[in-house]
Amino acid sequence: MSTATATLRVVSDSSALPPGARISQIRPVLGSLIQGFRFDGKPLKDDFRAMLRDLLHNRGLVVFEAGTVTAENFTAFAGFLGEFFHYAGPHTPRAPENPDATTIDSVRDTHLRNHIWHADGGFRSDAPAFTALYAHQLPEAGGDTMYSNAAWVHEQLDPLFAAYLDTLSVIQSADATGHITDRYLDADSAAAARQKMPPFEMPLVRVHPVTGRRWIAVNESYVAYIKGVSRVTSQNLLGILFDMIKSPEATVRFTWTQGALAIWDNRVVQHKGIKDYGGGRRVLYRATMTA
Ligand SMILES: [Fe+2]
Repeated sequence: MSTATATLRVVSDSSALPPGARISQIRPVLGSLIQGFRFDGKPLKDDFRAMLRDLLHNRGLVVFEAGTVTAENFTAFAGFLGEFFHYAGPHTPRAPENPDATTIDSVRDTHLRNHIWHADGGFRSDAPAFTALYAHQLPEAGGDTMYSNAAWVHEQLDPLFAAYLDTLSVIQSADATGHITDRYLDADSAAAARQKMPPFEMPLVRVHPVTGRRWIAVNESYVAYIKGVSRVTSQNLLGILFDMIKSPEATVRFTWTQGALAIWDNRVVQHKGIKDYGGGRRVLYRATMTA
């Protein structure tokens, strides 16, 4: 079993930061904040781009203060970190001022399920490696986003339990918690969506392709069950893992400011929006990227 040392590794080679920019940890377990950088639309210098990718792989979440990017250019910035991975559904339309961004709007989509822990695109076996979220419009209060580091959680497991989990696989499904059934209003659309996004099997523990860290690849939104065990065993094991993933020790609660940008490693980091808008409107713009 690896130790928490890797988690605490401060990977920032701050010499790669542009002049005036500075970096700090949000929590030891997860997240770095970059301040003092302004994206001018020009390609990033190679060493800065490499540093950002290293941060994403090792710190999981990188937040940029308001003013770093705009609604129009945040996708160009995020696009330097990986190839765009476009997927948009009926509930996540394109942003009006940015064709590379999709919109997550608490008013427009009253069926949003982003308050359930998930990985973006977790209903696909080729889910995107990175997600970028830009805060376009915020309620007066509320609407934070929680993030969890599922690699750190794995490192806390008893070795015998971890070895057992290595033997298991899970069935993931777009409709595991009713994303299709509850959100598509007519039966034909729902049937077509189920056909387009069939359930698939994945190892319960996966290995990060860059860092080599093992991580627990289950989330409350898209994992239907653990294969080959009883329903009760599956539910109880998943309950233990879900509890660990959403524990205070494994998580960061990020409070948005308008214009802030968050980018995270969508493999080891899962997230949920907190649905406490108090009647306000929360509009986030999203882009997703492959590695
Ligand atoms: Fe999400």
